[in-house]
Amino acid sequence: MSDIRLEGVTKRYGTFAAADQVDLSVTQGEFVTILGPSGSGKTTLLSLIAGLNRPTSGRIFIGGRDVTNATAQERNIGLVFQSYALFPHMSVLENVLFPLGVRKIGGAEADKLARDALKLVRLDGLEARRPSQLSGGQQQRVALARAVVFKPDILLLDEPLGALDRKLREELQVELKQLQRTLGVTTLLVTHDQEEALSLSDRIMVLDKGRTQQVAAPTEAYLRPANRFVAEFLGIANFVDLPDGRQGVVRPERVRLAGEGQGKAARVIEAIYLGQMVRYHLALDDNRSVVVAVPFLGTAHAPGERVSVSWESADVWPVT
Ligand SMILES: Nc1ncnc2c1ncn2[C@@H]1O[C@H](COP(=O)(O)OP(=O)(O)OP(=O)(O)O)[C@@H](O)[C@H]1O
Ligand SMILES: [Mg+2]
Repeated sequence: MSDIRLEGVTKRYGTFAAADQVDLSVTQGEFVTILGPSGSGKTTLLSLIAGLNRPTSGRIFIGGRDVTNATAQERNIGLVFQSYALFPHMSVLENVLFPLGVRKIGGAEADKLARDALKLVRLDGLEARRPSQLSGGQQQRVALARAVVFKPDILLLDEPLGALDRKLREELQVELKQLQRTLGVTTLLVTHDQEEALSLSDRIMVLDKGRTQQVAAPTEAYLRPANRFVAEFLGIANFVDLPDGRQGVVRPERVRLAGEGQGKAARVIEAIYLGQMVRYHLALDDNRSVVVAVPFLGTAHAPGERVSVSWESADVWPVT
């Protein structure tokens, strides 16, 4: 069953299309990430699905029901934005109770739901605090608890971890994934962090200039990008000529690095340590550059060293 369905959704501001003929089907319980550069229309799409904004044309269905003209309240959607937007004068518990009050749920039932939601995000014990007495990560957990407390059919997250430092972001990514799995809630996440998208999602949707470039499983989009834009947006792409005149893309992890004389001759320009991996920026003899990523095993090639590279034709994906 399709839980969210967009059919030809377009949002125009004057002649400019912030969303341009977007089609998407998200199934019940699925986690889909919308990925794209700044201004590509990610927030526009979420706000159209949430009912905060109306499309110029196209239809939006939730749970099979046409909600194109329904209000935000009629859609039962949990929302989290990049700025946590907690109520500063309310306690943590009051913040989480708020959406229940809006839905006329009160008393012991509301209290139990709110405390359960706070337990789910591991904030039990901090109910009486004000948002200003919490860390950024804790505030973001309150925002998550507030978004899921009323058991929404759909969770829409617009860069919810964007304001957090890298380590905290990685911790919360894991928690977010677990929360989503526990609740089984259909989730659309917006991010411009490629790694976040690749690691969290069942599928990703890549947007550029309001248009869908590809909707696919993360590994599929990474290894078999629909076009050059997706290839370059989802990480480092080596472009190589194919026998038929087209170009192909091969990822750095798929390039084999060997000593001199065992493939195409190359020279090390730069070696970059990434912890478990080393990334080499190499120049081929025709001056074309190739990027290779290999596990770091204690020693590395130095800039200026002669090496060689090769790749399997099966690891080269044709792009347009
Ligand atoms: N109310 C508006 N009036 C005119 N143009 C708008 C309006 N809202 C958004 N836009 C334009 O629509 C485009 C898409 O905006 P949107 O906020 O969806 O981008 P985004 O992908 O979320 O970007 P970011 O990663 O920076 O958040 C942008 O070019 C933006 O300037
Ligand atoms: Mg945005």
